[in-house]
Amino acid sequence: MSKPIDFSDRMLSLGLARVSEAAALASAKLIGRGDEKAADQAAVDAMRTQLNMLDIDGVVVIGEGERDEAPMLYIGEEVGTGSGPAVDIALDPLEGTTLTAKDMPNALAVIAMGPRGSMLHAPDVYMEKLAIGPGYDAGVVTLDMSPEQRVHALAKAKGCSTEDISVCILERPRHEDLIAGVRKTGAAIRLITDGDVAGVIHCAEFEKTGIDMYMGSGGAPEGVLAAAALKCMGGQIFGQLLFRNDDERGRAEKAGITDLDRVYGRDELVTQDVIFAATGVTDGSLVSGIKREIGSLTAETILMRSKTGSVRRMIYRNPTL
Ligand code: FBP
Repeated sequence: MSKPIDFSDRMLSLGLARVSEAAALASAKLIGRGDEKAADQAAVDAMRTQLNMLDIDGVVVIGEGERDEAPMLYIGEEVGTGSGPAVDIALDPLEGTTLTAKDMPNALAVIAMGPRGSMLHAPDVYMEKLAIGPGYDAGVVTLDMSPEQRVHALAKAKGCSTEDISVCILERPRHEDLIAGVRKTGAAIRLITDGDVAGVIHCAEFEKTGIDMYMGSGGAPEGVLAAAALKCMGGQIFGQLLFRNDDERGRAEKAGITDLDRVYGRDELVTQDVIFAATGVTDGSLVSGIKREIGSLTAETILMRSKTGSVRRMIYRNPTL
């Protein structure tokens, strides 16, 4: 048996980029084809195949769903060759299935990996989220504050007027009050139709994206993935699970969560150093989408390690696909 490698192995992080890249390339063939399921399936198949080539003893903790709902990359599935470090994996082979089917911006293939026990086993329920980029004092904005208070607090900390603040929010009827509250402050709002992993990450690269803050509810699994990204890039995220019924509460209890009202900070969602990779499927503010030219495909991946804070952008071109 080969000697287990250290989790922080730099080659392992490079391998992770191939995993998100493979998922994005596979789903790219379905961009704009109106078939969300097929796009997701292509990404899942490709991600799983690549993941199983890595020398890791991996377990999917954020995946495609419970075992009885998802045949592949389900929560608890063991992945990798089995020889290597014991790691937890959070993944979303296609974050933005609708964005892909409709050829809209910011669809990503996303994966994060950390030592066993490093990520919250978030059930598939909603999570109330609040995120800002790096450089602010801890707790400058909190989930306890109203949307108006958050905008005022961030503007004060940034040394600008509330009108200079931009907030990213998922466009959903459930966010009507939230949107109205932010509008009262004069702040700008970027409404997105889907893809709140990208929405949160936008806060960490204000110069590129023009977004200061992310607010609103979305998938809890996506919240953990976004926390992994911010752990690498810097920035704060707060998340609180939201339950609509007993079935959802049961899912949380099954995942080992006892305090159902807990507000998680970034380092509680992701407790140890992780590596994170995201490849663009459609063009976005973070990375470019897959470019299809005659005889070749090009993919852009952002690859990050929280231990070093390193951020790599990698362009992959395959003339044979
Ligand atoms: P999918 O890629 O699974 O379709 O998720 C897209 C997404 O927009 C997430 O980014 C977000 O967290 C969630 O859906 C929001 O859920 P809902 O569409 O129910 O508001």
